[in-house]
Amino acid sequence: MNTYAKVRAPATIANFGPGFDVFGIALEEPYDIVEMELTDGPSTVDSVPYPLPTSVTKNVASYAALALLGRAGRGDLSFKMTVTKGVRPASGMGSSGASCVGGALAAAALAGITSDADIVWAAAQGEGLATGNPHPDNVAPSYHGGFVAVRSLEPYAALHIMPEDLRVVAVLPDIRVSTKEARAILPATVPMADAVANVANASFVIHALMTGAYRELGTALEDRLSIPYRKALVTGYDDARAAALDAGALAFSLGGSGPTVFAIVEDNGPAVADAISGAFAGHGIGSTAYCTKIGRGAEVLALE
Ligand code: HSE
Repeated sequence: MNTYAKVRAPATIANFGPGFDVFGIALEEPYDIVEMELTDGPSTVDSVPYPLPTSVTKNVASYAALALLGRAGRGDLSFKMTVTKGVRPASGMGSSGASCVGGALAAAALAGITSDADIVWAAAQGEGLATGNPHPDNVAPSYHGGFVAVRSLEPYAALHIMPEDLRVVAVLPDIRVSTKEARAILPATVPMADAVANVANASFVIHALMTGAYRELGTALEDRLSIPYRKALVTGYDDARAAALDAGALAFSLGGSGPTVFAIVEDNGPAVADAISGAFAGHGIGSTAYCTKIGRGAEVLALE
């Protein structure tokens, strides 16, 4: 049996406009690295460079690994886990989701589990620990790569599109938004007209991604279920949007529960990134920009 696994799991943009809790895309970067080594126990977990919980039942990566091992009937295994965070926590770039996928996939590699359904389910349990809700729209794209729409975890039903040339600028302002809190401010019910608009826009998102007509995303990424309630948490959101579109972005939206914002671009990524960062700077807010693209899913980098 192998005793060491090293996994790369990418950041993601959940919701991807109108697909609240359903749509997500993987980014080429940033990403987390999770290393897991079987030991005689007790199990331990450490995260760098951000201080995250060191209890294996409170850290999302080890929690997802425990969920996977429990489901596989290997709850007897003990491990030492190290999570190297490339994705800043509370970013809106699927930071917890990347760690959850890293933990679940590392555990699966060591336990000989290859079922997508089991790995995504286990990763979603970690997401549930982090946010109070095991939504799959970060963990599924981090695991599979590309664009993913998830209908249900059990039974696992997900569709996958890989628009290889989709270029994305993601800008993370120096603001913290807790997903748990950003979920708590959402209404329990929404107006029928808003639900209808989101179904229409979601249909156009799928069409744009399947045909490469990315210009359609300009209107299709419009969301009426979560962003209108959440954008107040991201100071400068409207200015960042206007700046991105002025600089030639094809589309603009909020990443997951924020504060990351993202734009779909052609070959003008750096100009759009500068425009968005400039808009946040106008509010006295620093930011980190990633000129990236839709990316591949999680990978086992080493298994020994
Ligand atoms: N769908 C989730 C939300 C994603 O919007 O709350 C969180 O990153």
